[in-house]
Amino acid sequence: MNILFIGDVVGSLGREMVSEYLPKLKAKYRPSVTIVNGENAAGGRGITEKIYKRFLNDGANIITMGNHTWDNKEIFDFIDNTKLMVRPANFPKGTPGTGLAFININGFETAVINLQGRTFMPPLDCPFEAAEELVSQAKERTPFVFVDFHAEATSEKQAMGWFLDGKVSAVVGTHTHIQTADNRVLPNGTAFIADVGMTGPYDEILGMNKESVITKFRTSLPVRFEVPSQGRKVLSGVIIDINEKTGMAKSISRILINDDHPFISE
Ligand SMILES: [Fe+2]
Ligand SMILES: [Fe+2]
Repeated sequence: MNILFIGDVVGSLGREMVSEYLPKLKAKYRPSVTIVNGENAAGGRGITEKIYKRFLNDGANIITMGNHTWDNKEIFDFIDNTKLMVRPANFPKGTPGTGLAFININGFETAVINLQGRTFMPPLDCPFEAAEELVSQAKERTPFVFVDFHAEATSEKQAMGWFLDGKVSAVVGTHTHIQTADNRVLPNGTAFIADVGMTGPYDEILGMNKESVITKFRTSLPVRFEVPSQGRKVLSGVIIDINEKTGMAKSISRILINDDHPFISE
């Protein structure tokens, strides 16, 4: 079985890429499960219910989040009413939402876990402890376990990959918005990539208007970052092939679609 994952969707250009390419990617790979990271989908800051529904309508089965989960206050109105969204599991206890969700499609039940790193990021509960607990919960129900590890440092992401090698189907990194070229299946069968990359503006800086980011670096003055709604676009993702008996990965390939890479780069 295949799992298709799309990295951090940023703003309206990102949403347009999802609407345009998700149906094409699904036709090409026939994934059993399609997962989209939506933490930046509403103008770079969080997600709205309308956007969440649009992703499902475009073909996503479940949405993962990250450090921007709470940026759009609309999230509090619907996160507890949906079973199709996960936010980092190691947020403090009592936080709305869940970090582990199950999705059953055509007889394949997949567990989806979202975790957030702590290196160069706000302090949270230990993601490794949360992983241990949630993975054992998930494995009671299914061998298919997908982890979106939303973190800054490649070292912390590699640590999570090796920590969970042989225990889950895949550990994919998100958050840096830059696709890394280290996709591989680890020795005990867990698919890994340090960062899937982003989906949205192509000629900007991590999806934010490049002039304002350059000004920020040059002056250190407070600058408001905006997400452009016009210009060239990129879509970043991975497709993971999983052994239907063991739940372990057979392969993980990168997907990168932009004007320099017109369709698929593996
Ligand atoms: Fe992001
Ligand atoms: Fe993030």
